[in-house]
Amino acid sequence: MIKPNLTSHEKNGLSSYTLINEYGLSIEVLNLGGIICSINTPDRNGVFEDIVLGFKDPKHYLGEHPYFGAVAGRYANRIADGKFSLEGNEFTLAQNNDTNHLHGGIKGFDKVLWNVESLKNENGIQLSYTSKDGEEGYPGNLSVTVDYVLTKDNILKVKYRAQTDKTTVINLTQHSYFNLSGDFAAQILDHELQLNADKYLPLDNTQIPVGNYQSVVGTPFDFSTPKTIGRDIEDKNKQLEIGSGYDHCWVINNPNNEIVKAAEVYHPQSGRTMDVYTDQPGMQCYTGNFMDNTLPSKTGGTYGPRSGFCLETQHFPNAPNEPNFPTTILNPGETFTSETWFQFSVK
Ligand code: GLA
Repeated sequence: MIKPNLTSHEKNGLSSYTLINEYGLSIEVLNLGGIICSINTPDRNGVFEDIVLGFKDPKHYLGEHPYFGAVAGRYANRIADGKFSLEGNEFTLAQNNDTNHLHGGIKGFDKVLWNVESLKNENGIQLSYTSKDGEEGYPGNLSVTVDYVLTKDNILKVKYRAQTDKTTVINLTQHSYFNLSGDFAAQILDHELQLNADKYLPLDNTQIPVGNYQSVVGTPFDFSTPKTIGRDIEDKNKQLEIGSGYDHCWVINNPNNEIVKAAEVYHPQSGRTMDVYTDQPGMQCYTGNFMDNTLPSKTGGTYGPRSGFCLETQHFPNAPNEPNFPTTILNPGETFTSETWFQFSVK
């Protein structure tokens, strides 16, 4: 049996838990929102730095912020006009992103307190939360667990499970903002990104997928071979205009719904790399376009546009209203499971 390398302490009423592995890689998690508030990884010279955006003082997580490090749910990403129907009943959710519903509503999974326990056989913790029938407008009591496991291969495994007592919809993701340079004043445009995706979901003007799968070939959305995030981000392109940069869901090449490598990121200067594996059909790649220097960074200064990028593995946005997208319906008696891995290394 592996003894979890876990320390926990209280800060401003919030509990924080730190996982460390034998190479010194460490990950700190809060009971609030399952927020990953730091990931310390070495660069190619062995210098450890924090590579995720967030706050130095955890109390800032209680205020407004763009889902730094959090678990997003019950339905991550957007649902058009905050409405969907299930079994003939229409459900109305908060319109908290212009006319759309975003990341589970006013008090989504990112803002609730999770119960945290250490895992018995792995270097990890299990967060659990029960979302009540009707919470944020969603049907069914939904019990959710999220495991964070740190392996000796420098992989952070995030494993989700959920069960409901009434038919509902579910889409869970991890909303960490990465900046592999470790310098939060620097933009992420110099990071090289490769995505295992031949298609992406084009958006309407309110950032809801129009419903078709669009080939990336010949567009700024083609990351099928590595290129810097910044190379085409300012191209004249209607879709980039809608997202103020990249804020789109790519369709991961994964015909068999297995765990596949979905993304590789490389920061040439530090040598840090991050590979993302998932069994989910989609990945929202958001380049932090809406950060506007209003929030304090951990190292002094403020978070500006494109000071972090998110790779949010998930089901497709607005799937509850799109019969052609893979289903996000969860029925009583079924168990929702999904898994995403973030592997850290250097080149
Ligand atoms: C997601 C959305 C973005 C933005 C961020 C949070 O990634 O797609 O449009 O709302 O969350 O700021």
